[in-house]
Amino acid sequence: MNILVVGSGGREHAVIRKLRENQEIETIWCAPGNGGISAIAECVDIKATDIEGMKAFALSHPVDFCIVTPDDPLALGMVDVLEEAGIPCFGPRANAAIIEASKAFSKELMKKYHIPTAAYETFDDAEKLSAYIKEKNTYPIVLKADGLALGKGVLIANNEAEAMEAVKELMIDKAFGASGNKVVAEEFMTGKEVSVLAFTDGETVKPMISSMDHKRAYDNDEGLNTGGMGTIAPSPYYTKEIADRCMREIFEPTVKAMKAEGRPFKGCLYFGLMLTPNGPKVVEYNCRFGDPETQVVLPLLKSDLYTIMKACREGTLADTDVEWSDQAAACVIEASGGYPQSYKKGYPISGLDADGGHEGVIVYHAGTKKENGIYYTNGGRVLGITGLGDTLQDALAKAYAAVKQITFEKVHYRTDIGRK
Ligand code: AMP
Ligand code: GLY
Repeated sequence: MNILVVGSGGREHAVIRKLRENQEIETIWCAPGNGGISAIAECVDIKATDIEGMKAFALSHPVDFCIVTPDDPLALGMVDVLEEAGIPCFGPRANAAIIEASKAFSKELMKKYHIPTAAYETFDDAEKLSAYIKEKNTYPIVLKADGLALGKGVLIANNEAEAMEAVKELMIDKAFGASGNKVVAEEFMTGKEVSVLAFTDGETVKPMISSMDHKRAYDNDEGLNTGGMGTIAPSPYYTKEIADRCMREIFEPTVKAMKAEGRPFKGCLYFGLMLTPNGPKVVEYNCRFGDPETQVVLPLLKSDLYTIMKACREGTLADTDVEWSDQAAACVIEASGGYPQSYKKGYPISGLDADGGHEGVIVYHAGTKKENGIYYTNGGRVLGITGLGDTLQDALAKAYAAVKQITFEKVHYRTDIGRK
């Protein structure tokens, strides 16, 4: 069994590490991969969005299965092209990946199928949107670019002036490009945020262990939004009762809705939830594993990942075991100073062993490269250090002890992951 994994972040490192527990898997290629991934897979220099390049590689190598993890290639239809070429894939086709790629689509889906989410309106005209905001006169208001915007196309305005500035940024200055041609204006929700990733084969949905991301750059949730600065799993707020309610009101209805729309979703469906005073509501859907949620969720998976992924593709998830450990996990991201804005790359990383690891923790590489046996920083998010333990406190203590020992110039990390 030989597998091709598309992507280059900590999430892909976590997927590949889990796959490596299956002795039947021989070669794993990762395109394009990174320095840390190269210790357990063959990195191939093809961009994650290069659909034709990926197809050519898959057809000229003995690839039995392909796992497409990032949002862009999924939205662009990489799975469609590979499947048509005869390569079995894990991941949704483009007509299902739209659940993340268009917020206007996902909001309409939720409205049509009565899936709880924030009230909203969609606009493709800046003047109409401005008039709506002024008439509504309720703040904060949330404005979201319709398309993919690296998780940054969401602006929360606390008054009219901020809202007008946000409209200008999204629709006139096009700070997020064409993804701002349409904008969703929605009600501001309050509550704890929880991420639930779920395996689905288009019919059956099996949620993974819940997790909690920390999106802001600095402690106490200050600073800019990032791709995610750290995660814990499970989320202490996600009780059994809430999980049952989410299954009934959100997870199953979403999978059924996608099927009813002729867009069966196969792969990993990510539910970004807000536990509001009126019950759990959807903040967003992603059509893929979260990063760094995957770095705390997959280490807790006891079943074989490849078997589950194959079942998602083949429609046999109902008959496939998905078992979880009752341990806790915590991941702390070490980022380049300046991230998510400008930062320098190319600093040597100290504290890693020859394979890019460190005793007592799992080191997931996100933005690293390896040259002459030395690991260098090569991106905004550099490493994700995951600790496992019987309690969340144990897991955090292990992760932070290692974070102090693994370092590079201008390293930045949050010191309060999991503290709330
Ligand atoms: P999204 O990309 O849709 O997940 O939005 C990014 C972040 O903005 C979320 O993780 C929330 O923290 C926040 N956010 C998005 N929508 C809302 C909302 N309707 N109310 C409150 N916060 C929100
Ligand atoms: N950590 C959030 C995401 O992957 O979108």
